[in-house]
Amino acid sequence: MNVLHICANPKPTEESVSKQLAAAFFGKLIELRPDVDLVNTDLYDEKPPFYSYELYKRTWYPVLDETYTPGKAEEMAMNYAAKQAEAFNEADVLVLTMPMWNYSVPAIMKAWIDQVLSPGLTFSVSVEEGVKPLHKIKSVVLLVASGAVYKEDDERDALSRQIRGAFGFVGIDDIEIVWADGQNKIFNMDSDQRKEMAVEAAIETAEDIAELELTPVTE
Ligand SMILES: Cc1cc2nc3c(=O)[nH]c(=O)nc-3n(C[C@H](O)[C@H](O)[C@H](O)COP(=O)(O)O)c2cc1C
Repeated sequence: MNVLHICANPKPTEESVSKQLAAAFFGKLIELRPDVDLVNTDLYDEKPPFYSYELYKRTWYPVLDETYTPGKAEEMAMNYAAKQAEAFNEADVLVLTMPMWNYSVPAIMKAWIDQVLSPGLTFSVSVEEGVKPLHKIKSVVLLVASGAVYKEDDERDALSRQIRGAFGFVGIDDIEIVWADGQNKIFNMDSDQRKEMAVEAAIETAEDIAELELTPVTE
């Protein structure tokens, strides 16, 4: 099983709840599937560029114009996206680790998504056939922490909607969400005990997904 892990958190693990969820998740997964082929990408080490006009032309112009020939700048604009798409297309499972920032995904994660979900790289698109995946990812596991107490489907949550929408567009509807909420005292007026219980429950969910849902995926 090939797993691609994309992490968008600048903090060290000891200060980051979402990274602690990732440590628990991968600890369990590797214990159960020592053969797992894991590619780790820390977006703060491999920063995605913001989406550019050149990348737009290189990836979207061919969709409607067979005669389009990219220039050098347009080819170069695709370097990051092409490298990331190669890892994406080899994966069976995608794991995303991130904090909630301003009710949504960190900008660096959004920039990565904008690069990778480009036509001709991870999906094809045509008027006749619509969107067709070029990847083989079966599920996305989202590991997230928020300061305040709320989860998916709360009207303040734009994060899980963003992930479901973007990856649903390329044919991935199995999105497993592990969410440790109430992690910041400024937003969470509850007790420290509640904060710890939320982390413990999220770690348990992460380990269950590794064990019960992912382990049989390619059996
Ligand atoms: C720039 C920034 C924006 C944040 N925005 C939110 C927010 O919109 N909602 C929320 O519940 N917590 C918010 N937080 C709090 C974090 O989500 C919380 O501290 C969480 O534990 C971060 O995950 P981490 O521990 O893995 O870094 C924000 C924190 C920062 C630094």
